Amino acid sequence: MSGPNTNYDPVQVAALDEAAIAEMVDQAVTAIRAADSIAGLKQARLDHLGDRSPIALANREIGALPPEARRVAGQRIGQARGRITEVFREREAEVTAAELEATLRAERLDMTLPVELHPQGAVHPVTALIDQLNDVFTAMGWEVAEGPELEGEWLNFDALNIGPDHPSRGTTDTLFVDPIDHGLVMRTHTSPVQIRALLNRDLPVYVVCPGRTYRADEYDPTHLPVFHQIEGLCVDKGITMAHLKGTLDHFARELFGDVRTRLRPHYFPFTEPSAEMDLECFVCRGESVGNPDRPCRTCRSEGWIEWGGCGVVNPRVLAAVGIDADVYSGFAFGMGIERTLMFRNGAEDMREMVEGDVRYSRTLRGGAR
Ligand code: PHE
Repeated sequence: MSGPNTNYDPVQVAALDEAAIAEMVDQAVTAIRAADSIAGLKQARLDHLGDRSPIALANREIGALPPEARRVAGQRIGQARGRITEVFREREAEVTAAELEATLRAERLDMTLPVELHPQGAVHPVTALIDQLNDVFTAMGWEVAEGPELEGEWLNFDALNIGPDHPSRGTTDTLFVDPIDHGLVMRTHTSPVQIRALLNRDLPVYVVCPGRTYRADEYDPTHLPVFHQIEGLCVDKGITMAHLKGTLDHFARELFGDVRTRLRPHYFPFTEPSAEMDLECFVCRGESVGNPDRPCRTCRSEGWIEWGGCGVVNPRVLAAVGIDADVYSGFAFGMGIERTLMFRNGAEDMREMVEGDVRYSRTLRGGAR
C-alpha cells in the first residue's frame, strides 16, 4: 500500500461515493423487504450487513482515504448501516409476527370439539347375566345368598349326601388346598350355599346363589377350570316336583323367550328324584333330529340342549341340617353361567370369556339373542 495521499478525494473512491452507497442501501432494503421468513431474513442480513457485505467491504476502503476524508466517508457508511439495520428491524418484527400468526393458525385447537373420552370398561357378560338371573328370582320374592369359594369338604360334599368314596371327591376332579387333611376345597359347585342357607336362615327358604366354582378341568372351548354357576333352592311346606317344573319353565322363558323345556331323569346325590333340564335347541328347533341333511352343531342334532341339573331336595340333606323332612320339602337346581351365555349368545369359545378383552364384553352383550 502506498502512503496516504493528501489530495485524495473521497468522491473518487468508487465504493465510497454517495451514489454507490445509496445503491447499496437500496439493494439491501429491497432484499430485506422481500424476505418473508426468518430464515430468508437471516440470509438478507448476512448479505447486506455481514462481514462480506458491500457496505462492510466499502468500510474497509476508508483506511485508504486521507485522514480528512475519512470522517465524511465514515459518516456515510454509518448512516447507511443505520438505515439498513432500521429496515431490518422493521421487517424482522413483521416477519416474526406473521410467522407466529401462521403457527397459531396451523396449530389452532378448537376447544369446543368433542375429545376422545377415556375409554370406558364394560360390564362383563358373566356379571351382566348373573344380574339378570338374580332379577328374575328377586322379582318372585326370592333372596340372593352367597358363600365362600374356599369351602369345607363337609359343606361341599358330605352334607350334600356325597359320600367319602364318591369319584368327584378325588384329586382328578376337585382342587384341594394344602394341607389336604384340613379338608378345604375350592368349591366344585354352588350347592354348598344351599347348606349354608338352610343353616343360617329361617324357613321357608327361597334363595338363588350365584358364584364362582372350581374344577380340575381342562381349559378348552367348552371347559374352564374356574367358572360360574347359579344355584336355586326352595324349602317350604308342601313343595313338589311340580313347583320345580313351573319355576324352571318361568326361568327359561324369562331368559330365552318362548322356548320348550323338558326334564330328563338323572342322578344327583343331593336330590331325589333328580333330573336334567333341557331346552329345545334355539338354532334348529329340533329339525336336525334324524335329518342328516340339516345337521345342527349347537345341539349335535339332538334337538335339545342340556341346561342344568335339578331335583327334589333329598331328605338326607334336610336331615343333615336338622330340618324335619316330614314337614318340609323343597327343590333345587344348578346351572352353569358360561354355558348359558354360550347358547344364549351364540358364543363359541368359553376361553374368550376369561381373556378380559373389553371389546368382547361389548359385543357379547350387544349380540344377545
Ligand atoms: N350341583 C350340581 C352340579 O354342579 C347341579 C345341581 C344343583 C343339581 C342342584 C341338582 C340340584 O352339577
